[in-house]
Amino acid sequence: MQLSFAAPSLNSAGALVLGVQGGGTFTPLALDADKASGGALKRAVTASAKFTGKPGQVVEVLAPQGLKASRVLLVGMGTEFNAAAAEKLAASIVARLYTAGVEAITFAIDAPKGAKFKPGALAAHLAMGAKLRGYAFAHYRTKNRDEYETTIRSVTVCTRDAAAAKKLWAALDAVADGIYLARDLVNEPPNVLYPAEFARRAKALSKLGLKVEVLGEAEMKKLGMGSLLGVGQGSERESQLVVMRWNGARNKNEAPVAFVGKGVCFDSGGLSLKPGASMMGMKGDMGGAAAVTGAMRALAARKARVNAVGVIGLVENMPDGNAQRPDDVVTSMSGQTIEVLNTDAEGRLVLADALTYTQRKFKPKFVIDLATLTGAIMIALGNDHAGLFSNNDQLAARIAEAGKAAGEAVWRLPLGDGYDKLIKSKIADMKNIGGPYAGSIVAAQFLQRFVEKGQAWAHLDIAGVAWQDGEQKPLSPGWGVGWGVRVLNQLVADHYEK
Ligand code: BES
Ligand code: MN
Ligand code: ZN
Repeated sequence: MQLSFAAPSLNSAGALVLGVQGGGTFTPLALDADKASGGALKRAVTASAKFTGKPGQVVEVLAPQGLKASRVLLVGMGTEFNAAAAEKLAASIVARLYTAGVEAITFAIDAPKGAKFKPGALAAHLAMGAKLRGYAFAHYRTKNRDEYETTIRSVTVCTRDAAAAKKLWAALDAVADGIYLARDLVNEPPNVLYPAEFARRAKALSKLGLKVEVLGEAEMKKLGMGSLLGVGQGSERESQLVVMRWNGARNKNEAPVAFVGKGVCFDSGGLSLKPGASMMGMKGDMGGAAAVTGAMRALAARKARVNAVGVIGLVENMPDGNAQRPDDVVTSMSGQTIEVLNTDAEGRLVLADALTYTQRKFKPKFVIDLATLTGAIMIALGNDHAGLFSNNDQLAARIAEAGKAAGEAVWRLPLGDGYDKLIKSKIADMKNIGGPYAGSIVAAQFLQRFVEKGQAWAHLDIAGVAWQDGEQKPLSPGWGVGWGVRVLNQLVADHYEK
């Protein structure tokens, strides 16, 4: 799908998309097109009794007379048309025309009169919506491809300020590419994307100027990462720790921001084996690592003025003769011992060592970990918010605000000693599970035991948002959502670039 910006014109073939504001007011370009069609567009809107210009409403006019377009789509813009609304609008059109046989789409949408929304920004966000919804993961389909594959080849966004649009688009496009990468990683089947293959794909990002280092099991053993290594020891596939660094700040010695991701390439549960139905989809248990990788790609591609480090712990949680047993005690890199009572509570074991490594090696400004950590977070928050936990109110507030702006909402949940008690072990420093209640908080409490003194830290439990089985999110067609790339990028852009 080719995206480009051009001066406003109603002269395009293919689908022409025009805006109608809330209350049914035609935008200037829509008025021009109506005139060219001899009033056919206004008649079509009048004939469609329910159309009032609300967001999401569309009237489609096929083969309009007086216009070159094969079809015109009049779309509702509502009354508060902003960046998020523009993205949703463009995405809904791409969704509607995805397999309709249309090859070219032209958006000719003006900003509503008096709107603060500048024409360049409007155009860039239309392009963003089109690109995000235009994603496809189709490598493994050999039959009936035209039923699923899009026919859309080009999307042109008309704008009175192409220079501003292109400039903004360069940054948004970098983020979109990061989201595409995260989606690809989540969507890949686990026989293809095992830890070493994930590491190879991360390594390939060196071409963007990221420094990528891969640690294997021998190196992690030397570092004392018994907690992470225990999870992978029942797998034929070697565990990996990938460290991605982007040094974009003017001061190369400034403390970096740090992101840590859970990368369980497949979570069978280990010897605490998951039932069959719960195991389906566990290829996506590396969604946190995918988000971190996608975010690092985005920062590098848009040359963000920040020092950032992304660390991902990649393992496969499998049950074989060498697998970790429930009752095992492992020693983490921090020196703390863990009684592993359930091998399916493995994400926290991976993150523990990845967190210690990140903090000790990089002394970051803050560390944020992302993980598809608990089924319980879906009981609490469903699929519309990620769970946020933090020891730092300012960092938590900044993440929440960035989440709102980026369309990736988070909801903060509490931490406290009363929950921490639940992971006391009879024989070790802690156990890896609590009781039946507050499963997501208990998991966060476990992670907090690996946060070093004075370190600002936040944890995002993304088990409910990393992939989607049912209803499609407006900007995401696929299974893997790529959740997290945008909020991390937004957080950096809002507060940590100089
Ligand atoms: N990867 C799962 C969490 C998960 C479940 C993510 C469903 C997405 C969808 C995690 O490793 C896990 O198995 N957690 C257990 C923890 C329990 C054993 C304390 C869970 O949530 O049941
Ligand atoms: Mn598990
Ligand atoms: Zn897991």
